Amino acid sequence: MTATGRSPAQEWCRRAERLAVLCGAGLSVASGVPTFRGPAGLWRQYRPEELASPTAFARDPLLVWQWYAQRQQAIARCRPNAGHRALAQALAAGRRLAVLTQNVDGLQQRACAAAGVEADDQIEELHGCLWRLRCTACGARRMLSTALQIDTPEDLPRCASCGGLERPAVVWFGEGLDQRLFERAIAAARASTVFIIAGTSGVVEPAASLARLCAGHVIEINPEPTPLSAIAEVSIRGGCEQFLPELFG
Ligand code: OAD
Repeated sequence: MTATGRSPAQEWCRRAERLAVLCGAGLSVASGVPTFRGPAGLWRQYRPEELASPTAFARDPLLVWQWYAQRQQAIARCRPNAGHRALAQALAAGRRLAVLTQNVDGLQQRACAAAGVEADDQIEELHGCLWRLRCTACGARRMLSTALQIDTPEDLPRCASCGGLERPAVVWFGEGLDQRLFERAIAAARASTVFIIAGTSGVVEPAASLARLCAGHVIEINPEPTPLSAIAEVSIRGGCEQFLPELFG
């Protein structure tokens, strides 16, 4: 604790000129969204290459779409938690904060909308968003407002302009990140004076390496140690839903 009664990490966040937060699935755990690699993680139940790859989609678009539609339906029942709200409130307060999220659930955007923040230029969805569709033929994009229900091939979503098959606008295994978006994330990480690693296992590149670009204080929030713990000046062993509000309080 410092003389103010705040922890050093709270003081760094309070004073930081520019913050960046790298978010992972752990941020949405308190909302009821499963992680990928934990004991109940999605990649324990399913093989990623059978559901989240261009090859899988080419082989069986119905299977892949049924899985994404089920995830949309489950996430539609979830609500942003105190961790999402803390970031949304910091943006609403005008903090220079870049939210670099690997999450595709859209919960951070929902928290921002609820806080009245339009922060599209401050939230980078590094791995895309499962509420956004992209036409595999002409590339046209659209946003969904409700979850899809996919039972038969006739239910597969089709592009309104060219009739092509649409896919979820998420980054799949074997695909690269959107280059312009990733360059903006690199710039935000380099410019940050405090970088928070929030709820990620830190094993998926290139997102994980963003944390290494900050020349200032690096703080990790995660109940478990990760490969990124070694570069964090402080590792807070707990949940984002508790400690993001504490850091930004
Ligand atoms: P993981 O499932 O790999 O890791 C989730 C992390 O959250 C673990 O380190 C947990 O210890 C931690 N955790 C659990 N509960 C938490 C809580 N309440 N607060 C904070 N942390 C908590 O998920 P990601 O790191 O997000 O990629 O995975 C990275 C990428 O791998 C995902 O974006 C996805 C996946 O394959 C793509 O789909 C491209």
